[in-house]
Amino acid sequence: MSLHVDAGAALAIDGGPPVRSAEAPWPRWPVAAPGAEDMLRQVLHSRQWAITSPHEGELFERRFAEMFAGYLGARHCVPTDHGSSALVIALESLGLSEGDAVLVPALTWVATATAVLRAGLLPVLADIDPRTGSMAAGALSEHPDIRAVVVVHWACGMADVPAIDAVAAPRGIAVIEDAAQAHGARWAGRAAGTLGRLGCFSMQHSKVLTCGEGGAVVTGDEVLAGQLEELRADSRRYRGRTPVGELPLAETATTMGANFCLSEFGAALLCAQLPLLDAQHVVRNRNYELLRQLLASVAGVRLLDRPPEQDALSLYEVPIIFDPLPAGSGNTWAAAALTAEISMRAYPPRAPLHRSPLLQPWKKSTIAGLAGRFAARHRDRVFPHAEYLARHAVLLHHSAFLGAERDMRDLARAVAKVARHAERTAGRD
Ligand SMILES: Cc1ncc(COP(=O)(O)O)c(C=O)c1O
Repeated sequence: MSLHVDAGAALAIDGGPPVRSAEAPWPRWPVAAPGAEDMLRQVLHSRQWAITSPHEGELFERRFAEMFAGYLGARHCVPTDHGSSALVIALESLGLSEGDAVLVPALTWVATATAVLRAGLLPVLADIDPRTGSMAAGALSEHPDIRAVVVVHWACGMADVPAIDAVAAPRGIAVIEDAAQAHGARWAGRAAGTLGRLGCFSMQHSKVLTCGEGGAVVTGDEVLAGQLEELRADSRRYRGRTPVGELPLAETATTMGANFCLSEFGAALLCAQLPLLDAQHVVRNRNYELLRQLLASVAGVRLLDRPPEQDALSLYEVPIIFDPLPAGSGNTWAAAALTAEISMRAYPPRAPLHRSPLLQPWKKSTIAGLAGRFAARHRDRVFPHAEYLARHAVLLHHSAFLGAERDMRDLARAVAKVARHAERTAGRD
């Protein structure tokens, strides 16, 4: 597919003309579903603002749990207040012992690792597969002591969970999917989150399905589902039919939970937003495919590989990988240059977790024991593939893909322009 780029034009970051006028709008995020306002008003006037409220009528929280489980093809769904809490209770439900080691990819949002610490366990970092950005099965063999693995479907890619599970299951290692960035992605027809023992989702503002702050755990295991309910509602479970004015939660207390409940406002919003999701996937994926074709012949830039088994894509943060990059500047420069060309924020991935300023457990005195073990375990370790993507990728939010074909043509021209300048001044690192 042909792409016209003015080879002589200066970059917008250097004062040249941008590829796209700052006046041309990009889609905004989030997009409120048509029924959202009505549902929120219903909650407002119901006097039932939480699952801990005296019973008045059907809970949106129950409705959303059923809808989301149905959407994914999961047997059970337990909504939570955040994706991080979803991870914490998923880990707690496994019944591991204090300080057990849990494998986590080095390239992910920090919450994947902090959830492990919050569950009283030790995060052990693994490098990722540079083609997909997610963990590969080989990572498990380097750590004989791990008791669980949290696999992250990173930035539009998917990890090969069946391959990871084939290594994990014979060793009694539980596989949790962190599908916080992958609502609706599918691997050989199965939804992300339903391939492992437990799947965790975030419905925080930037996610493709959002209510501002929210989350959910899904599982096919009925016993775990009951535990998850207690772990997120101070040791209480739904009691089924509840008389008006009585509490819908019974103090079953087979384990000890905490309060990670999703509010009725969040649940109502999710009930309204979920029916939009697949139509948005169609628009985003069509635009992404066009971008892929437009960039196919552009030197110095590529998109992540998509394994043939991943038969449905859920765009989240879309990585565009620049290689080569100018000596001494790297992808921070590329992100700024791209932003200046199209007036849409492009940004580098966050630092891999072994050097992330957000993951310094020694700054929290209540987990000093785990912090010491974490520091000792990672002192001499390197994560070259995570480092490569952290230094060469530039990310775009999925909302950039919700607009028209013209947006992709502008984006591709801008990427090609930046890549050409990068090549001219390149020094490979
Ligand atoms: C991979 C991953 N895991 C976990 C989380 C945590 O979700 P939340 O922010 O809803 O707690 C996020 C959120 O960005 C994420 O991207």
